[in-house]
Amino acid sequence: MGPGWTIDEKRHAGTEHLDPEEVARFDEKMPFDPSVEIDVLREFGLSREDTVIDFGTGTGVFPLAVAKHCDRVVAVDVSETMLNAVEEKIEDRRMRNVETVHDGFLSYDHSGGPASFAFSKDALHHLPDFWKIEALKNVGNTLEAGGIFRLRDFVFSFDPQDSRTEIESWLEEKNRSTIFTDEELYVHFREEYSTYGFVLEALLERAGFEILEATYEDDFYAAYICRWVDCSE
Ligand SMILES: C[S@@+](CC[C@H](N)C(=O)[O-])C[C@H]1O[C@@H](n2cnc3c(N)ncnc32)[C@H](O)[C@@H]1O
Repeated sequence: MGPGWTIDEKRHAGTEHLDPEEVARFDEKMPFDPSVEIDVLREFGLSREDTVIDFGTGTGVFPLAVAKHCDRVVAVDVSETMLNAVEEKIEDRRMRNVETVHDGFLSYDHSGGPASFAFSKDALHHLPDFWKIEALKNVGNTLEAGGIFRLRDFVFSFDPQDSRTEIESWLEEKNRSTIFTDEELYVHFREEYSTYGFVLEALLERAGFEILEATYEDDFYAAYICRWVDCSE
């Protein structure tokens, strides 16, 4: 825990990520094929000697898959319930190079050699923008100079003038094509902190990352490849 003015990351983690019944359904509800992401890291030089840290790991789909391609994987999440699910998978598959750490983006304190890669998918939007940049600085500080950060998240790239119509039509489309309830979809806008791509790009750069690639998908999702250059020195 930090000083009294520090945000409580667990309180912002999303109640569904703390609830055992919801976590048990997570892989079915949010299916994710990690192979594309592993290919991206390999393209940027991932090798068997590397350490990879996954922030907001959820049920550990990414760390368990990337472990075959590197030396050490650290799966970080603020939800103990999520980490219990990861630990069960580690035990079932007898994986020896994946460790879990119960911490948040902000409180994670890396030990061991610096990582060459950091990864985060669908987790950073749980923090408000001031705290996003604090989180990004902490992610960067776990990396060696030149280390790579792959970030994927719900990020808006529609014109702010069109926000209401864009969001209404996104909700309508999701409502038809997914198993999420209206309330689950609304919470994302009402209580979480997805932001615009132009804001997130500035946050990444001011935290000390150079953005090598930024990809915007369907106005509601983005993926970045960044290199840690650390502008604090
Ligand atoms: C939507 S899930 C994504 C899980 C996984 N990355 C995936 O894509 O399958 C978001 C995860 O981020 C975690 N989370 C939320 N806020 C966090 C924080 N401040 N630090 C670390 N993890 C956080 C939640 O507990 C949850 O496991």
